[in-house]
Amino acid sequence: MTDKEHLAKRYERIHNQLQELLTKTENKVARMATAAALLHHKMPHFFWTGFYILVEGELTVGPYQGPLACQVLEKKKGVCWTGVERKETVLVPDVHKFPGHIACDSRSNSEIVVPLYNPDDQVWGVLDVDSRKLNAFSEVDRDWLERIAKLI
Ligand code: SME
Repeated sequence: MTDKEHLAKRYERIHNQLQELLTKTENKVARMATAAALLHHKMPHFFWTGFYILVEGELTVGPYQGPLACQVLEKKKGVCWTGVERKETVLVPDVHKFPGHIACDSRSNSEIVVPLYNPDDQVWGVLDVDSRKLNAFSEVDRDWLERIAKLI
């Protein structure tokens, strides 16, 4: 099996486990906390794993695992806001080359942001993962993190 196939298998197991775990409550905070913990501890290339939620127009930190993060992100700047505004996943191979990137921790080098949608197709937050490695995320991460985001 190739590295990508191994990664996809691991995501598949995480996805299935989360599906099972998330039958216990409809509470979004509990669901985000469960997803962040599971992903962070099963994925060696994840350095920061968590959620930013739109609260009164501000992207405010939600449940996460990893080093201390910014609590509120400067408006309309950075990778998370780009995901909200474009309403699509943003994959950043090198955060130092992304205009406006908000460095909550200088050790992060690449990042992926996946929007979360409500039933009316409005974005209510994002799943954000940072890695210390450059170019750590691929189409495999995009595909599976989008599926995982839908479980929240
Ligand atoms: N880098 C993000 C901010 C959040 S941290 O990565 C945890 C951004 O540019 O929006």
